Amino acid sequence: MNLILLGPPGAGKGTQAKRLQDINGIAQISTGDMLRAEVAAGTPVGKEAKAVMEAGQLVSDDIIVRMLASRVSQPDCAKGFILDGFPRTVPQAQALDRMLWDKQLKLDAVIELKVDDSALVDRIAGRFTCAKCGEGYHDRFKPTGKIGVCDACGGTEFTRRADDNRETVAARLEAYHRQTAPILPHYAALGILRTVDGMADIDVVAQQIDAILAQAG
Ligand code: AP5
Repeated sequence: MNLILLGPPGAGKGTQAKRLQDINGIAQISTGDMLRAEVAAGTPVGKEAKAVMEAGQLVSDDIIVRMLASRVSQPDCAKGFILDGFPRTVPQAQALDRMLWDKQLKLDAVIELKVDDSALVDRIAGRFTCAKCGEGYHDRFKPTGKIGVCDACGGTEFTRRADDNRETVAARLEAYHRQTAPILPHYAALGILRTVDGMADIDVVAQQIDAILAQAG
């Protein structure tokens, strides 16, 4: 099964993609995570992307499309993939269409997580991640069971993203509305766009997605 999760920053794409990966054994492909790994490793791509990401702007389509093309060819994508944060522009959506055509693959669903802009800043400002295993949490909406200890791996070190601050979030939201939302009509025209209420609790969003996938599969 091949899916796209679409939505503004903080909509819950990563939270739901990770859950789907764990349950269904299909690969989560987060272009944001891939870029952060490049930044951490200090590669040429990472050096180019760092300032752009910290300003809340989008990294160039060329870099992203090249990264994505090599990622979907890896063995863990054989059962399918969940695209989390890609495509984000019309040229990226067009490149994905070509890539899928070349590989004789199809998209089963494009799931839009719809969340009010006003809720997103709180979600992003409260987000933190286990430094050891990458499990994601939220100060209020998804705290660890025991304070300071990761539920998944027992790690005690946590990180917060450099772009998770109020100023950058405003720029990321603007980029979403101006550059990413215009790709929605493309998937609506293909009849594969499904919209879920991303304002609901994490478990309720998960149920909505599972119901869509039960129909798509
Ligand atoms: P990326 O890493 O993709 O970030 P994003 O799209 O801004 O999305 P986030 O990761 O912030 O949010 P999310 O929707 O995954 O929410 P999450 O599940 O964590 O991109 C970062 C940057 O990289 C971009 O700005 C750009 O510069 C660059 N980039 C990446 N891809 C690119 C591309 N294709 N082209 C060009 N540039 C690209 O949830 C957020 C928080 O809320 C968590 O704490 C979670 O616990 C909580 N939460 C989740 N769901 C709920 C819920 N239903 N109710 C309450 N809380 C919830």
